[in-house]
Amino acid sequence: MDKALHQGFTIWFTGLSGAGKSTISDYLYDELHNRRGLAVEVWDGDVVRTHLSKGLGFSKEDRDINIRRIGFVCAKLTKYGVINIAAAISPYREVRDEVRQMVGPDRFVEVFVDASLDTVMARDVKGLYQKALRGEIKGFTGVDDPYEAPLSPEVVVDTANETVAESAGKILAYCENAGLLPKA
Ligand code: ADX
Repeated sequence: MDKALHQGFTIWFTGLSGAGKSTISDYLYDELHNRRGLAVEVWDGDVVRTHLSKGLGFSKEDRDINIRRIGFVCAKLTKYGVINIAAAISPYREVRDEVRQMVGPDRFVEVFVDASLDTVMARDVKGLYQKALRGEIKGFTGVDDPYEAPLSPEVVVDTANETVAESAGKILAYCENAGLLPKA
């Protein structure tokens, strides 16, 4: 049986496609759920879009709906002691600030997964940047669609220069120091 915390919280990743949001989320899930036995739910953009947000596209309107939906479930579960990990590009600052308010600013940890366009293009794990550069996908974030970096995120991770364990360690340390997570 998972242990629910007295009060949950939400770790909200934002960053370009391929920046490392899902990889760090998986690492945190393993640490917090499998090792520490805590109740954790991951809301990954790619997965959410096959269920909760099936049918939505990538216009600003659709992206904002996607982010509000993820924010809504994070807010509900945060109340009941669950640790939520949201991993969607969430390119627009205004709607990220909206979900921060929905969850509760003192329970919301915004993590900027800072990887340059050169870095994510060199990785191009899904081959989507090549397609976007060839014009086969229109409105791809960072290529011909905006990405608004956070102005004052709680944590910044630099995935070109840190290991996954180092990036995750920074996030865990922040959560522990903020009193959101018991020290391991
Ligand atoms: S968000 O903008 O609404 O937060 P989300 O994280 O759910 O995006 O989905 C992003 C993923 O969808 C990318 O990692 C990529 O695999 C895929 N994708 C397909 N089309 C686009 C596009 N036009 N812009 C960005 N990502 C896209």
